[in-house]
Amino acid sequence: MKVTVMGASGLIGGLLVELLTREGEDVVSASRRSGVDVLSGLGLPKALAGADTLVDVTNSPSFDDEEVTDFFVRSTTNLVAAARAAGVGHYVALSIVGVDELPDSGYMRAKVAQEQIISSSGLPYTIVRATQFREFADAIVESLVVETDADEEDEHDVRVPDALIQPIAADEVAAFLAEVAISPPRNRVINIGGPEKISFARLAREVLALHHDDQRVVVDRQATYFGATLAKDSLVTGDGAMIASIPFC
Ligand SMILES: NC(=O)c1ccc[n+]([C@@H]2O[C@H](COP(=O)([O-])OP(=O)(O)OC[C@H]3O[C@@H](n4cnc5c(N)ncnc54)[C@H](OP(=O)(O)O)[C@@H]3O)[C@@H](O)[C@H]2O)c1
Repeated sequence: MKVTVMGASGLIGGLLVELLTREGEDVVSASRRSGVDVLSGLGLPKALAGADTLVDVTNSPSFDDEEVTDFFVRSTTNLVAAARAAGVGHYVALSIVGVDELPDSGYMRAKVAQEQIISSSGLPYTIVRATQFREFADAIVESLVVETDADEEDEHDVRVPDALIQPIAADEVAAFLAEVAISPPRNRVINIGGPEKISFARLAREVLALHHDDQRVVVDRQATYFGATLAKDSLVTGDGAMIASIPFC
């Protein structure tokens, strides 16, 4: 089977290319590094020629509200048009569990726009929504650090939302995507999450302990997740989700 991985140089893309190649699939690795640009459309016809499946694991280099929206709307519109022209039979995209219930976040709104362009394109598709990658935990904790005293440079707390998170190993996300890529399109969203639902406070404490960092962790009902106000279960899977096996720590 011929599979084009768009975003092949990224965290998930790199793992996916390795897995599909090992399984004997005919893989095309595409990203700007290989001369393919989803925003300008450069190289898309060649990257998709003869492909049975496109797996879209691109990400926006900027998380600024306007730029991230422009990235996912423009790239997905270009990818849908190029996939249709090339006769691609399955568009697989990676999204985020709970994405449609977090409208305060520009990033989440952009991912919802991406999903809508794919699901209304008429192309056979599967959207895989994953929970937060284990490998993203440091960046999540970093985003929650706040200065507690403007006069003291080193006075910081980690202010975490009172919510649950379900980290999943990137290896397991890639393995699931590899299976989806060579299976028939489901034409719906499917969810996958890590094996444990843990509090943001525990995630932060575990990450800080790994770095021998003694910053204080404070549960703060005002704290947001990249701009999104969270309910307890906003980021975790519900019934019917696939559950992975590698624990957070
Ligand atoms: N982080 C999480 O916890 C999480 C959870 C669930 C879902 N997701 C989703 O998973 C997806 C993949 O994430 P990731 O962390 O693997 O991404 P990543 O490591 O940031 O990789 C992004 C990829 O996109 C490519 N790219 C960026 N701009 C491009 C352009 N204009 N044209 C072509 N390729 C371009 C990059 O390659 P070049 O630089 O070579 O172009 C790179 O290969 C994202 O869509 C994200 O929303 C993330």
